[in-house]
Amino acid sequence: MAANGDGEGVRGRITAAVIGCGDVSAVHLRAIEKLAGAELVGVCDTDPARAAAAAQRYGAPWFADHRQLLGSVRPDVVHVCTPHHQHVAVAVDCLDAGVAVLIEKPVAHTVAEADRLIAAARARPDVKVGICLQNRYNTTARTVRDLLGSGDLGPVRGGSAMVLWHRDPAYYQARPWRGRVRESGGGVLINQAIHTLDLMEWLLGDVQRVRGHAGRYGLDGVDIEDTASVLLDHAGGARSVVFATVANAVDSPVTIEIVTERAVLVIRGDLTVSHADGRVETVAEPVVSTGGRGYWGASHERLIEDFYRTLSDPEPFWIGPREGARSLRLIDQIYHQNR
Ligand SMILES: NC(=O)c1ccc[n+]([C@@H]2O[C@H](COP(=O)([O-])OP(=O)(O)OC[C@H]3O[C@@H](n4cnc5c(N)ncnc54)[C@H](O)[C@@H]3O)[C@@H](O)[C@H]2O)c1
Repeated sequence: MAANGDGEGVRGRITAAVIGCGDVSAVHLRAIEKLAGAELVGVCDTDPARAAAAAQRYGAPWFADHRQLLGSVRPDVVHVCTPHHQHVAVAVDCLDAGVAVLIEKPVAHTVAEADRLIAAARARPDVKVGICLQNRYNTTARTVRDLLGSGDLGPVRGGSAMVLWHRDPAYYQARPWRGRVRESGGGVLINQAIHTLDLMEWLLGDVQRVRGHAGRYGLDGVDIEDTASVLLDHAGGARSVVFATVANAVDSPVTIEIVTERAVLVIRGDLTVSHADGRVETVAEPVVSTGGRGYWGASHERLIEDFYRTLSDPEPFWIGPREGARSLRLIDQIYHQNR
């Protein structure tokens, strides 16, 4: 796999558009603004006021329909920052128009929709598709993957992860789609813990079996789960557990702990590696403001730069729809186990 986000910049001029001008769009718009060689040529939101506000702030024409944007400004890249149930509909139109597309997580709100995107992408191998699982660009996660891959720490025994976050009623009232399964696909698993499930599989190996429980314990007025516990069996024999909730009293840093034969690795903000021989090493996760909330992490810019930098490469982007759908498939199995 490629991907290093090492700040080489993009080749030539790349025109970009953002579809969906809500909360996360600010991170994408600022990344485009900062990226040498990238130029914002349009923004789109079905809510004209949000589209117009983004257009004014970032200096680009606005549209209320993404097909009009595609036909009018013909961007090289589109960032899809819509609610989950709109990801694939918009992305397939981009693919049909031959426009590279970077889609916010999750790939889709259902596995069927993810498969529709995978098929559309397969039919257009000339068009790049990326999924925004930016935590794979975290310095800490990459260091852990390199350390485990080196074999120096011995076989991996297992791991655990805790996603203890707080989402108050205002979070769902401001964006009702977040609290409705038919639009979001679910709650804490598909919206928040998906990053951590993706990392657990990326770090510990392909998941061969998943068992889990998801339920609603703290939230009212929504039909999504707010709390989940998951058990993963990885290829190679490691097992891991993930506990996730948005009913925590505060937002705590995500904690990932991995145990190998000769070390314990803990990511909680920074990475600490405690070796069996007593050595302790730490690796800092650089904290930079990207215009988003702190708990989104700081690696959006790295992923976006890498996507742009590799646009003209012949091979697909390394986190494409099939790769991005891995965590969605795990989550879908847990939802089915609960029915
Ligand atoms: N990677 C991350 O860490 C991260 C963080 C936050 C959000 N997200 C993801 O980003 C996406 C957007 O989340 P958000 O919190 O910004 O949502 P939001 O509701 O704040 O913004 C979505 C916007 O899309 C608009 N929209 C809806 N359908 C549209 C369509 N067909 N065409 C154009 N615009 C449309 C809405 O009017 C809204 O303004 C979600 O997939 C979410 O999971 C990812």
